[in-house]
Amino acid sequence: MNQTTTSLLKSVVAGATIVTALGVQAQTPTGPVGDVQAGESKAAMCIGCHGIPGYQNSFPEIHKVPKISGQTAPYITAALQAYRKGDRKHPTMRGIAGSLSDQDIADLAAFYAGHNPGVTAPEQPKAAPAAVAALLEKGTCASCHGANFSKPIDPSYPKIAGQHADYLYVALKSYNVQGNPHIGRANPIMGGIAQQFSNAELKQIANYLAGLPGELATKPQSRFR
Ligand code: HEC
Ligand code: HEC
Repeated sequence: MNQTTTSLLKSVVAGATIVTALGVQAQTPTGPVGDVQAGESKAAMCIGCHGIPGYQNSFPEIHKVPKISGQTAPYITAALQAYRKGDRKHPTMRGIAGSLSDQDIADLAAFYAGHNPGVTAPEQPKAAPAAVAALLEKGTCASCHGANFSKPIDPSYPKIAGQHADYLYVALKSYNVQGNPHIGRANPIMGGIAQQFSNAELKQIANYLAGLPGELATKPQSRFR
């Protein structure tokens, strides 16, 4: 190959790379691109809660800290932005998210999304008991969270299969709390859904979802690396 052809080829290849990069950018216009390694070091401030299996939080009632390893990156981003903005009121997470920049959030989301690799939930979950199946049907939960509750139709919606039952229950109830400065989540989608159910029903749903095989985990991490 002569010099001219080689450099021509190089610029074609470079051009193609730029087009691809722009294409990816175009799909995620909302913020910076996350860096997994940067996220891993920034996660030092998260592992005291999200890196200890079974770690409990006592507000507004005792429940386990949510599993976030293996969660989708756009949902982690959306959740952290909601705490930072105050749409999610949980005081501890508001304080933490308030200290994060958009780049920090992107890095942490990229890191945690890839932090439970190689785990794929079965396509179909085990059948729900009839009473729970009727509640899931009424709330059309699978239409957004996926048939196995690990395949949300939009990556900014959460995977919920296998999440801690007590956390799922607290989370579901929080969509029904308005006007409290410390508790609640303002979310137009889940607000409309959670209000159709009593707390007893939300608990039944949470228990069923928690028992399903999922893609979420709490992974211990060394603080010293
Ligand atoms: C002091 C304990 C603690 C620390 C430290 C902490 N979190 Fe949390 N985190 C929680 C609790 C408790 C919740 C549940 C809050 C709620 O009910 O909305 C939560 C919720 C979340 C959620 C929402 C999960 C979901 O399924 O909606 C994300 C994402 C998250 N934390 C990420 C982080 C990141 C990233 C860090 C580090 C920068 C961090 N957290 C540090 C306790 C903590
Ligand atoms: C129209 C789409 C849609 C439907 C239907 C739907 N969800 Fe959601 N769900 C969402 C979105 C979007 C979020 C994220 C809300 C936020 O950012 O707080 C969410 C959040 C959740 C959460 C919080 C997860 C976490 O980690 O904190 C739970 C639990 C949940 N949904 C359960 C359900 C259940 C149970 C049903 C049926 C009764 C249901 N959803 C129906 C879209 C939907």
